[in-house]
Amino acid sequence: HDPESQSILDAHAWLTKLYHHLLRNSKEGQDAYEYLLQRGFTEDTINRHQLGYSPSSNDFVVTFLEKKGFHPQQMVKAGLLNTNEQGGYFDRFRGRIMFPLRNHLGKTVAFAGRSTGAQEPKYLNSPETDLFQKGRLLYNFDLARGSIRKQNQIILFEGYADVISADQTGIQNGIATMGTSVSDTQAQLIKRYADKVIICYDGDDAGIEAAVKAAKLLKKAGCETNVARVPNEMDPDEFIKKFGGDRFRREILDASDPYTSFMIRYLRRSFNLQLEGDRITFIERVLQEVAQLDRAIEREHYLNEIAEEFQMSISTLKDEVEQLRLHQS
Ligand code: CTP
Ligand code: MN
Ligand code: MN
Ligand code: MN
Ligand code: MN
Repeated sequence: HDPESQSILDAHAWLTKLYHHLLRNSKEGQDAYEYLLQRGFTEDTINRHQLGYSPSSNDFVVTFLEKKGFHPQQMVKAGLLNTNEQGGYFDRFRGRIMFPLRNHLGKTVAFAGRSTGAQEPKYLNSPETDLFQKGRLLYNFDLARGSIRKQNQIILFEGYADVISADQTGIQNGIATMGTSVSDTQAQLIKRYADKVIICYDGDDAGIEAAVKAAKLLKKAGCETNVARVPNEMDPDEFIKKFGGDRFRREILDASDPYTSFMIRYLRRSFNLQLEGDRITFIERVLQEVAQLDRAIEREHYLNEIAEEFQMSISTLKDEVEQLRLHQS
């Protein structure tokens, strides 16, 4: 590393420890600690993921980093400090629960700070630096790596809390991106480490829309992609806390849909199949999905379903699909 990157890494290492210490031991961190316990995170989990608390003071980190000899300007670049109009410095993360964002080597390269109350934004993230590029980092990959290799499978969650909850219940191959979008680079990384991926986003509309985008990207990257559905607009963390890990495994992960089934189900939502015009467009869209499948058996499986549902001959549908396949690159 260049000296500046090294000093950013060092500062993040110090602050990971310090924030964690403050969560565990300080009076100011007590409410945040109790909040996490209340949410069902155990002491072991809080330690394993090095969760922390940033005090609400304006200059706690300023003073700490200054004492350690860090250059404040570099710390601004690193996203640990902000500057005010008078050219002074103040702490960027104040009064938040701190999630260290670790790179694949387990080094903290950024933070996400969750507000403990109604304070917006819910998550405040570090800005991008040479060491932290949102589109290249997979949250929790360092801890998940062994389990991912063993299972040849990754579970992609939407949020840090989902990953941590899953991990706590023994599902250790979970990762997340920073927010709901997945970059091409992240899709390629996922494919490099595992052939199979289950997308397990939140059950709300935002989660479903994001899952469609992620699924397309992961499929394109060559992953065998399944999509899980969490009911009642819950997210995976809420489901696990409410119903436990066994039910989560059985009812959510094991029941996840292969990419094409998921897409057909999703498309269904946007059409009124009582209307003839919609029905035809829907079928055309389904055939486009089916045409992408490499295996004839799989294509036949879905065509049979459509043929039966809409009382069409399978041979007509097959012809259509073969046409589409001819025109496809
Ligand atoms: N996110 C973000 N900034 C926000 C809101 C969300 O970066 N203001 C990202 C975070 O990575 C977060 C993910 O989007 O983990 C999913 O958001 P959401 O479902 O709202 O949060 P949860 O992970 O469910 O967090 P919690 O359970 O603590 O409410
Ligand atoms: Mn492979
Ligand atoms: Mn969400
Ligand atoms: Mn949540
Ligand atoms: Mn969520």
